[in-house]
Amino acid sequence: MLRLARRLLLALAAGTAITSPWAAMPAQAQQSFPNRTLTVIVPFAAGGPTDTVSRLVAEAMGRDLGQTMVVENVGGAGGTLGAQRVANARPDGHTVLLHHIGMATTPTLYRRLAYDPVNGFEPIGLVTEVPMTLVARNNFPATTLAEAVAIIRRDRDKLNYANAGIGAASHLCGLLLMSAVDAPMTTVPFRGTGPAMQELLAGRIDLMCDQTTNTTEQILGHQLKVFAVTTAARIGALPNVPTSAEGGLPAFEVSVWHGLYAPRGTSAEIVNRLSQSLQVALRDPRLVARFRELGTEPVATERATPAAHRAFWTADIAKWRPIIQAAGQYAD
Ligand code: MLT
Repeated sequence: MLRLARRLLLALAAGTAITSPWAAMPAQAQQSFPNRTLTVIVPFAAGGPTDTVSRLVAEAMGRDLGQTMVVENVGGAGGTLGAQRVANARPDGHTVLLHHIGMATTPTLYRRLAYDPVNGFEPIGLVTEVPMTLVARNNFPATTLAEAVAIIRRDRDKLNYANAGIGAASHLCGLLLMSAVDAPMTTVPFRGTGPAMQELLAGRIDLMCDQTTNTTEQILGHQLKVFAVTTAARIGALPNVPTSAEGGLPAFEVSVWHGLYAPRGTSAEIVNRLSQSLQVALRDPRLVARFRELGTEPVATERATPAAHRAFWTADIAKWRPIIQAAGQYAD
């Protein structure tokens, strides 16, 4: 009995509860994380799809971690400025990056970055995979994908296509579209598709390919035209929107995965604590309900782990490398 009491006293003195799931964590690290507000860097402007996902995740993880988790938008250069901020951040777990498929294309698209786009990060876990939609200003003279394709092929670079910079999902989706219809449009880059959406709604941009987390409410509110969703099957939030294959463009298929990252050098204990919190967040009923309203779902828990995320990320880098090299279009 005395021995157990002694262990309890020693553990309590070291701040480690005997039954704590973190018992293996060094007492100092367990006591020190998280010990202040955490920051999620979003590498695109406020109001866009990455920002929307990040704010929902930050709110739910903050509840689990018992610390406020704030979102800071660091847009520009297709998401690389925000990624660089986290690659250079103190590896203490209080600064993380929520980014998407751009983490798989950046290592090939950008050849002269001031940070290591792969080895500069510790993957924490995958978050969600979001469908994309092809949308247009409300007075665009087409109703179906086939009609829109005919106009794109006729008017080509007279049309303005918005994206969030080279390497953004909206950029990649535009590349797929323009190669599928063999007609380049004039590309207008923004610091995120949040600001781009405002220009589209104002009729100053003709077309954009963006994630349902940024287009569903405008589509349901008949504020813009929608021609297709870029998934193999229709989605529950937009049951009347045909797939790109139904519209005659089967090659125009892409969905945007999102993941959470810490700076390289963040301890495994802290990465695992962040992953555990992410998994709790992805099961949070409020987050799940909002994701569903916006046309997406959290990933399954087993994908929200560091190992699963690293394997998926590494494979996607390898998938996109030959595609980008064949296109020969680099950011720098
Ligand atoms: C993109 O890749 O297009 C970004 O997700 C846009 C954004 O989040 O603002």
